[in-house]
Amino acid sequence: MDQLKITSFTADGASGLLVTDTAPRFSFSYTGVMTSAVIELCGKTRDASIQTGIACPDVKLSPFTDYTAVLRLTGPGGQEASEQLAFRTGRLDTPWQGRWITDGSYTFTEKKVSPKVMMFRRQLNLSKPVARAEVYATALGVYELTLNGDKVGDQYFVPGFTSYKHDLQYQVYDVTDQLREHNTLIAEVAGGWAVGSFVMIRANRVTADRQALLLELRITYQDGTAEIIGTDDSWEVTLDGPVKLADLYDGETYDASCDVDALTWRKAAVENVTIQPRISAQIGLPVTRNEHMTASLMKEVNGKLIYDFGQNFAGVVALHVKGKAGQQITVRHAEILKQDGDLNTAFLRSAKATFTYICRDGEQTYAPRFSYMGFRYISVEGVKREDVDVSAYALYSAIQSHGSFSCSNELLNQLNENIRWGAKSNFVEIPTDCPQRDERMGWTGDIAVFAPTACFNFDMTRFLNKWLRDVRSEQFKTGGIPNTVPAQGYGFPTTMPNMAVDFWDDACILVPWAVYMHTGDLHVLEDAYASMEKYVKACKFWANLIGFGKQRYIWHTPAVFHFGDWIAPDVPKMGQWQARSKWTATASLCNTSSLLARISELLGKQDKAAEYHKLSRRVADAYQSLLMDDDGKLKQQEFQTGYVLPLYFRMLDDRHNAAAAKHLAELVRRNDHCIGTGFPGTPYILFALADNGYVDDAYRMLLNTKCPSWLYEVRVGATTIWERWDGLDENGLCPIGDDGTGGMISYNHYASGAVGDFLYRRVAGIEATSGGYRTFRVQPLPGSQLTWAKADVTSPFGKIASEWHAENGQFTLNVTVPAGTTCTVVLPSGTTQEVTQGQYSFSEAL
Ligand code: BGC
Repeated sequence: MDQLKITSFTADGASGLLVTDTAPRFSFSYTGVMTSAVIELCGKTRDASIQTGIACPDVKLSPFTDYTAVLRLTGPGGQEASEQLAFRTGRLDTPWQGRWITDGSYTFTEKKVSPKVMMFRRQLNLSKPVARAEVYATALGVYELTLNGDKVGDQYFVPGFTSYKHDLQYQVYDVTDQLREHNTLIAEVAGGWAVGSFVMIRANRVTADRQALLLELRITYQDGTAEIIGTDDSWEVTLDGPVKLADLYDGETYDASCDVDALTWRKAAVENVTIQPRISAQIGLPVTRNEHMTASLMKEVNGKLIYDFGQNFAGVVALHVKGKAGQQITVRHAEILKQDGDLNTAFLRSAKATFTYICRDGEQTYAPRFSYMGFRYISVEGVKREDVDVSAYALYSAIQSHGSFSCSNELLNQLNENIRWGAKSNFVEIPTDCPQRDERMGWTGDIAVFAPTACFNFDMTRFLNKWLRDVRSEQFKTGGIPNTVPAQGYGFPTTMPNMAVDFWDDACILVPWAVYMHTGDLHVLEDAYASMEKYVKACKFWANLIGFGKQRYIWHTPAVFHFGDWIAPDVPKMGQWQARSKWTATASLCNTSSLLARISELLGKQDKAAEYHKLSRRVADAYQSLLMDDDGKLKQQEFQTGYVLPLYFRMLDDRHNAAAAKHLAELVRRNDHCIGTGFPGTPYILFALADNGYVDDAYRMLLNTKCPSWLYEVRVGATTIWERWDGLDENGLCPIGDDGTGGMISYNHYASGAVGDFLYRRVAGIEATSGGYRTFRVQPLPGSQLTWAKADVTSPFGKIASEWHAENGQFTLNVTVPAGTTCTVVLPSGTTQEVTQGQYSFSEAL
């Protein structure tokens, strides 16, 4: 047996030093045998044996204070293991001594564009040695700080994207080592999401009429005295800095010949900020530079150098140039090429997606800081090929890689890679739909279906918990959720804010549920519970509004208020996807109420559990008896999603279930095992087939390479997941005509990558049976064409792994089970065994 040892100990899932304004929650994993666990903080203790989502000991935290939590484990023979974890409190409720400042002379009234970039400056001389110095900063807009010419911190797009009128984050930077005797602190503040143009209607000034900065430099000197230098009218400001344009969609223009010291600086003005958000320490993950991407020069077309990065991703280019003062270099971005080899930018819609760099003399480097693009190809104009080196950085929120999957089919492995790149490209501050065109918005439906897959591949806890806070803040009084969060003045398809929209608004339940299942932290459900209840009540209200008797459980508000079977490739027009909302909405209500029943039970609310369970069964019964005939066949129209949802959500009685599964399998076979589902059906179709006796059909669909299918995209060269299954034909050209969506064609949309969940849960067979994998199952699903598959999952208890081989009539399985968990292993023959901590091998004849 392993020695008692702590293998991880985290506060709020943070990897580095946590700075927090709320009492942190702890998690840990260990090896060996543990009989008790406690966390101690300032002499107070808390039982920690649950290992995950452990509440902080009851200590009244003070602001600006370093704390050390101690975890102590005891083994059966009295063995001990302990570990310390430092964290620091932020301001808590300390009022800011700095004041909001702006450029008081700037009136920004233009529509659909972003404001000029404000550059603030404060010079300060220090006469005593510094013991510690920290900057606390936030802005309306996005800011970047430099101190004595060096960037402060490594984050992009701070203070981050939140529902600004409710919550604004501040960042804390330790600048002790960056301070000198004479100092220049500069803050550039671009429009970002708060003031700049955003959402596809290019709304601007949504949060404020112009940018503003709030900052404190808090210095403690070695002699014990302290000083706070806050933003006030002693700061200076200019609009003439080097960043001439900064817009999330259009890009950035940077003039390197701009001499900052020679600019005319004005006095900054104290700003009367009209919103009154909570301003608290950053809870989201920082957006940082990740992979350094290299490009190959493809050719010169019409005087432009065309580069291929070989991977579609979100980020910024980095140029190393030998240039002359005034020389202008223009970089454009695209996901695909036209037939002549030039960039195809048609689907970027209004996004100009252009970076322009104006050189100074000599060698220089440039990488944009106030915008990012989604692209695989770029064109570079205005420089000779021998005078420029091109590379790029992938930018995304620092989600840590958390799992892996691979198998004997190379196309499937590439699909999994594409799913991971789709996630990275769309986890930039908030879960976005796509990183390239004039959206990049927090579409709720996309993450509602993708969250389980995301949680397998990455540690999503901080990232999603931050976004979920905004979901709750922005929930309408009547229970619906804006279709994009933060909403930023947007509301398609309904401008009736009180409406609830199936699957999209389901995010308020499906996303916390996914996080809970991967972390086991009940607080996630507790925090979301009131909003979940409000939402399910709203859905029930809308369903009940039309019809009598059982009809009252068919949610049938006009299709124009829903997205329905969004992007279903078996019908070509947007209106046809929406017209399926009667089925998708009804199934959604059944699922959300059933999940809410489970959640109520987990939170000890038995009465509520019974109430939601009853609602769910009534909706299920209505679906079966009104939308299906006695033979389990859909009455009005047969379509894949119409079967998938009642099968996956277990809405049917045994007889209807078996019949519906058969109808689905037949429908799938008639469709040559091509996919026909939209957003709501895609994550679940393979489960609906495989779990109901049609394993071979599930695998044929998964491994199909004919369009539309997951592996078709891979076969024709996709490096991410596409929004439209037929986004490119075999010749690499886009075949989609006018379908009512106005050119809504993205090549980096993670939603249909939700199939990743099937790779982990069925192909490799790792499935949590209770929150955080305290109990889980390993039940691989060998398929006809696969000879092996393996996956691992980082649970809060430690690493779980499954690896199987099916060769020469023999099936072998290796399983890793971490301490604190129980695993039920189910072999293909049905042989079942329960195991705890350890590594196991099983084999049987196939
Ligand atoms: C987005 C989607 C989103 C959808 C809702 C699109 O424009 O890109 O992914 O969920 O609108 O209709």
